[in-house]
This record gives sequence, C-alpha cells and structure tokens, in this order.
Amino acid sequence: MAHKGRLAAVIIVVVVLGAVAYWIMTADISAVGSPGGVETSIADGMREWYIGRGAKSVPPPTVANNAESISQGEALYSMSCAQCHGMNARKPMPIGEWMNPRVPNLSSADTQEMSDKEIFWVIKNGIRLSGMPGFAKLSTDPEIWQMTYYVRSLGAKPAR
Ligand code: HEC
Repeated sequence: MAHKGRLAAVIIVVVVLGAVAYWIMTADISAVGSPGGVETSIADGMREWYIGRGAKSVPPPTVANNAESISQGEALYSMSCAQCHGMNARKPMPIGEWMNPRVPNLSSADTQEMSDKEIFWVIKNGIRLSGMPGFAKLSTDPEIWQMTYYVRSLGAKPAR
C-alpha cells in the first residue's frame, strides 16, 4: 500500500513538472499578441492586491483637490505622461497600444475604480514588469497629488 501511495505521488510530481516545462517552452513573450485569459486574470488579481497593499502606506494628501490642483496636474501630465497615455489621457498613443500590458485609458472604469491613494501610489512607484515608470525621483509628492486629481477628474467622480 505504501508503495502505491509513493508511486502515485511520483506520477503526480512528474505530470506537474511536465506541465510546467511545457508551459515554459511554449510561452510567448511577444508584446503584439494578447496573453490568455488565465494569465491576464492572475496578473490583474496580483496587481490589484499589491497596489491595494501599497496604498495603505500612503499618507493623507498634502494638497487640496480643487480646480487649481487639477489644472496644475494637467500641465504636469502633458509633460510626463502624455507620450504614453495620450494628450487627453483618454486615448493612449499608438506606441502605448502596442506595449504589453497595454497603456490604459485613464478615464476608463478600470482606472476610475481605483482610490485616490491607489492612483497616487501607482504614479509614485510605477508597476514593475509593465511600462509604467515610477515618478518618485522625478516629481514631488504635491505634484503627484496634482496629477492624481487630474486623473480623477477624467471620471468626473467625487474624490474618495
Ligand atoms: C512609458 C509609458 C508610460 C508613461 C510615461 C506613463 N505611464 Fe502610466 N501606465 C503605463 C502602462 C503600460 C500602464 C499599465 C500597467 C499595468 O497594466 O500593469 C500604466 C498604468 C497607469 C495607471 C494605472 C491605471 C490602470 O487602470 O491600471 C495610472 C494611474 C497611470 N499609469 C498614470 C500615469 C501618469 C499620471 C503618468 C505620468 C506621471 C504616467 N502614467 C506615465 C505606461 C506609462
């Protein structure tokens, strides 16, 4: 009996290793095609969890969310972000459409579902293994809040 159990365990390990090897050997890293549904949902779920965790350490905003901040944020956005996210942040530049993960439309429901602190965290830290750079060493925290409010204004939703 113990033998049979051991044999079954060995077979399971071999099958799992074989599946992993097959997956590695057939994986496609081209940015042109889109990854499959399983890869996308695992990556999205992990990304959401990491961003949510990061946002917990963001201190309260140091600038007010008002028309002046939004217009300052828009000016900063046009210098630092428009080359990927597009001039009005609603339509990524052609090059952004062919990065993988794709550059998102910042007025989309996916982005607007994020809290202010989550957007701030993403702009400040970037997202590793994606094209999104971290601006921690390029912009000050008040500037990052202004850009956060500009992004938030695209969804015309109340601040959270
Ligand atoms: C080099 C191209 C590039 C530049 C420059 C860039 N981004 Fe991004 N950004 C990306 C990519 C690619 C993603 C998607 C990352 C992902 O899906 O994991 C992204 C994601 C985001 C997100 C998360 C939204 C979402 O729905 O996932 C926000 C917010 C954002 N960028 C804001 C900005 C702001 C503000 C700037 C300028 C300070 C900026 N980005 C500059 C490429 C860029």
